[in-house]
Amino acid sequence: MTTNEHLIGRAQVDDVDAILAITNDDVDAVVHAVRANADAVFTWDYERSRPALAKLYEKAKTSQWNANDLPWDTAVDQAAVIEANRIQNEGIFGPMDLKGTPVEGWTDDDWMRFHMETQNWTLSQFMHGEQGALICTAQIVETVPWIDAKYYAATQVMDEARHVEVFARYLDEKLSGHYPINAHLKLLLDDIIADDRWDMTYLGMQIMVEGLALASFGFIHQLTTEPLLKQLLRYVMSDEARHVAFGVISLQEFYAQLTAAEIRERQEFAFEAAVRMRDRFLSQEVWERMGVDVKEAVRFTLAAPDRPIFQSMLFSKIVPNCKKLGLLDAADGWLRSRFEDLGVIHFEDWVDTTEEYGALDAVAAERVGG
Ligand SMILES: [Fe+2]
Ligand SMILES: [Fe+2]
Repeated sequence: MTTNEHLIGRAQVDDVDAILAITNDDVDAVVHAVRANADAVFTWDYERSRPALAKLYEKAKTSQWNANDLPWDTAVDQAAVIEANRIQNEGIFGPMDLKGTPVEGWTDDDWMRFHMETQNWTLSQFMHGEQGALICTAQIVETVPWIDAKYYAATQVMDEARHVEVFARYLDEKLSGHYPINAHLKLLLDDIIADDRWDMTYLGMQIMVEGLALASFGFIHQLTTEPLLKQLLRYVMSDEARHVAFGVISLQEFYAQLTAAEIRERQEFAFEAAVRMRDRFLSQEVWERMGVDVKEAVRFTLAAPDRPIFQSMLFSKIVPNCKKLGLLDAADGWLRSRFEDLGVIHFEDWVDTTEEYGALDAVAAERVGG
């Protein structure tokens, strides 16, 4: 039997010491090399035999947008935006008893600095994640054996370049600092890139990382009052919905001919990725920069009353898509019970992304005046 120790390096999912033991010790490096082990595959079968992928490819060609067309001249006062967001979203997040926590004595200035750092950190991680998507999708162009999937993946490479571009530009021009990649996110991206099975790139990137990105962009899109960021996220989300659909459509076909043992390996990979992504959202680097005891602060973060809602929302796309792929219930519901432990199973019957990518298309919406 595969244990938690084997899969995620610790017996208890909430073991804070083990989570914090993973750090990025490479923060000053300008490049980071990962060996890709999958074969680059040519196909001589140019027959367009996969209509769902062909349709997605056509959609991608007409849904391209130019990052330069966003309203970059919008003035962004980061502190004023944080205050406006606080007023707009008052009531969503309940009050919290801070007694005995590391933030007990914080002043309004401390809280403002914390929110600014959190935003810098969040968008930095999005930017790094987007570069991960750029690299993984370029890898899929090489490794997937189907011509329709190579065509589609090529359009996604362009989308991801644009996503890295917009987040990098927003950080540089509108915010107040960068963060290096979070250690848990880095570990996950390295694992995805290094795996020699082409379908694992899809599961790690299109289903797990991009599924989480789609949910969390949607969350921030709703909470922010800043019009440039709102529009930027709206455009990125319309691309991400196609990317997740690309993963679901491709893997549905591929998984149909895998053995039970092979499916079980995919379940384990999905669980490992889910835990790494959850760990990356504990913002340990922000606490470090704020000069508080990181272990105490992470314990406090895990215990926050809005934590379960926020954390589980991040899985609102991943869980239904895993269900559609048959990953929840294979092997006697192995992944279902893991997702139950993580408190995210209640999303299983939410809409899966193959159903919603059309509705999220921002470019088409604009063309009809939306
Ligand atoms: Fe992206
Ligand atoms: Fe993407």
